[in-house]
Amino acid sequence: GAAVEVDISGMQPDEMRVAEWRGKPVWVVRRTPEQVAELSKIDAELADPNSLRDPAQFTPPYAQNQWRSIKPEYLVVVGICTHLGCSPTPILKSGPQPSVPNDWPGGFLCPCHGSTFDIAGRVYKNKPAPDNLEVPPHYYVSDTVILVG
Ligand code: FES
Repeated sequence: GAAVEVDISGMQPDEMRVAEWRGKPVWVVRRTPEQVAELSKIDAELADPNSLRDPAQFTPPYAQNQWRSIKPEYLVVVGICTHLGCSPTPILKSGPQPSVPNDWPGGFLCPCHGSTFDIAGRVYKNKPAPDNLEVPPHYYVSDTVILVG
């Protein structure tokens, strides 16, 4: 499939943009500094904090780090649950916080069977989703454009 460009110019912290690549939604989230700091603190709550389960399918080498991304503040993931393919609901700090603890630092909640993912797309422990959300192949064409594919 053709690669797709995502314009991230002017993105604010806690903002998400959506692109479509190979018929799949790709989510780009600009994380807040607090969220970036949180990523290194919640490993014990996650099923696969270092994305070691099947990295070939879900996490390219340049995203095998605590941010699961090239740049710490920007997350790029496929918005499809790794359980049975539902579309998780993004829980941004500025949006509604359905069925999650008040102090949850943000992430994604799958409405189908309750899998929760952190703001790096890493699945929490004891959830039905077997893997973290897929990080699609991508790179920065410039500071403001990401090429996915
Ligand atoms: Fe997401 Fe089952 S499809 S938890």
